[in-house]
Amino acid sequence: SSDETQGIFKATKEDYQKVYDEIARLLVDKDDYDDGSYGPVLVRLAWHASGTYDAATNTGGSNGATMRFAPEGDHGANAGLKHARDFLEPVKEKFPWISYSDLWTLAGVCAIQEMQGPIIPWRPGRQDRDVAFCTPDGRLPDASKDQNHIRAIFGRMGFDDREMVALSGAHSLGRCHTDRSGYDGPWAFSPTVVTNEYFRLLLDEKWGWKKWNGPAQYEDQSTKSLMMLPTDMALIKDKEFKKHVERYAKDSQVFFKEFSDVIVKLLELGVPFESKPEDRISFKVSDD
Ligand code: HEM
Repeated sequence: SSDETQGIFKATKEDYQKVYDEIARLLVDKDDYDDGSYGPVLVRLAWHASGTYDAATNTGGSNGATMRFAPEGDHGANAGLKHARDFLEPVKEKFPWISYSDLWTLAGVCAIQEMQGPIIPWRPGRQDRDVAFCTPDGRLPDASKDQNHIRAIFGRMGFDDREMVALSGAHSLGRCHTDRSGYDGPWAFSPTVVTNEYFRLLLDEKWGWKKWNGPAQYEDQSTKSLMMLPTDMALIKDKEFKKHVERYAKDSQVFFKEFSDVIVKLLELGVPFESKPEDRISFKVSDD
C-alpha cells in the first residue's frame, strides 16, 4: 500500500515553501523583540542544533533536534534559545508533518534570506530522535578561548580555516545578552541585516578591553557601542584566519557565496539524507 493510504504525508517543495512563508510572516509580525527581529536568534538555533556534530563518531548535528530535551537544552551554550524554539512552536502546530529538526534548520535558512542574506539551498530529511541522542556538553565553542580552540571545535565538525572564518561572519547578526552568555552588546551597527560588516569592523575599528565586571570582551574605541568576543578577535590575531577576514571585508559577494556554501554544509552535518544535493530547494524570498 502506498504512503498515502497509510496516512503518511509526503511533503512537496511547495509545502516547504509554505512553511518558509509562515516563518517569514511571523518574523515581520513579531517585531517586538531585541533589535526588532527574531531572525538572529533563529540563526543561532539552527547553528547550535547543527554544531554539535562530531565527524569521528558521526554523532550530533541537526538530525534529531535533541535540544528539545533538558540535558542539551540546559547546556550553558544554549541559554536563551528557548526564545527561538518557542517562536517556532505555532509553525510546528500549523504544519505538524515537519520534523523539529527540519523546521529549526529551515527557520535558520528563512531568517538569513529574509535578513537580506544569500540564498541557502536546503533539503528536508531530518528525523527527530529521543533524549538518548542528546550530545554531551562542551561540543559548542567557548567564546573566552583562542584560535587553537576554534580549530579544535570546528575541525571536529570537518571545517577548514576558510570555512571557519566564513561561518563567523554570522556575527554581523544579533547580539550578546548578559542573562544568556554573560557578554553584552551587538557586533555590528545593523544587527538584523546580513552583511560583511563584521569583517570590516574587525579590521577598521580600534578594539580595546571593555572595563566592566562581566566576562572579558572587547569594545570599539570610537563609539563604545559595539563588541567582539575573544574568539572573534582571534580571527585577526591568527595570520591564516586574517587572510580570509581581509578577503571577506573587501568583497561582500565573495563573502555571500562562501557563507551560503558553508551554511549549507553546517546544516547538513550528520544527516542521513535519502535525497541528493541536486534536490535542494532554493526558497523564494518574501516580497515586502
Ligand atoms: C550569538 C559565541 C560562532 C551565530 C553568540 C553569543 C555568543 C556566541 C557568546 C551571544 C549569546 C547571547 O548572549 O545571546 C560564539 C562563538 C563562536 C560562534 C564562541 C565560534 C568561535 C557562531 C556561528 C554562527 C553564530 C558559526 C552561525 C553560523 C550567532 C548569532 C548570534 C550569536 C546569529 C546572535 C544571537 C542573538 O542575537 O540572540 N555567539 N559564536 N555564531 N551567534 Fe555565535
